[in-house]
Amino acid sequence: MASSRNVNLGVLVSGSGSNLQSIIDSIEKGTLHADIRIVISNNPDAYALERARRHKIKSLVIDHLTYPSREDFERALIESLRSHEVELVVMAGFMRVLTPLFLRTFPMKIMNIHPAILPSFQGIHAQERAFDYGVKFSGCTVHFADDGIDTGPIIIQSVVPVCHDDTADTLRERILREEHRIYPQAIQYYAEGRIEISGRKVNIRHGLRPEERALHNPPLESF
Ligand code: GRF
Repeated sequence: MASSRNVNLGVLVSGSGSNLQSIIDSIEKGTLHADIRIVISNNPDAYALERARRHKIKSLVIDHLTYPSREDFERALIESLRSHEVELVVMAGFMRVLTPLFLRTFPMKIMNIHPAILPSFQGIHAQERAFDYGVKFSGCTVHFADDGIDTGPIIIQSVVPVCHDDTADTLRERILREEHRIYPQAIQYYAEGRIEISGRKVNIRHGLRPEERALHNPPLESF
């Protein structure tokens, strides 16, 4: 295993913060070598802020509604992230689209999680749209942010089946459980300096090889 140092994180949130919680838990367990230097919410009522407080992690509200433009809002974010010596920006349920100003400031240093197998179902309500479409598998993706919506280079994906008795809610929960596993893993790859990017392709140095096995849903019976 590659050596690992603690990477300084700035976590951007807007809502419940369950992904923030999975990152905190992984740090506390010692499986993720990172320090959360600052949690920033654009939403003053985000439950994620309470999670940060409970773990004595510094948090801050930067409400986009109080800024005249997206760029002004982002300048405030950048100033805070820089002053907390953030090396990797982690978007965890952060519901704002970033402009080139922010992206240029942290090139390939911004991760996002999306609750679908990208490039399918980019944008909001991905789980419901996948469910309504009738897909047999869905899942989640951690990727670097670029100037599109959910389009940046893919770091890790997890696939879950859609079962015949699922609802959009049960599918969302199944996907969320996987989000909580792959996000800390992606950040740990970063902390270990194992992420190589070439164009759209991300390689994890010394990454485990996946099983070369097809998945079927419903499972094949006699073929
Ligand atoms: C998650 O599905 C995340 O992927 C999406 O928002 C949902 C809630 O995230 N973008 P969290 O509980 O606030 O981390």
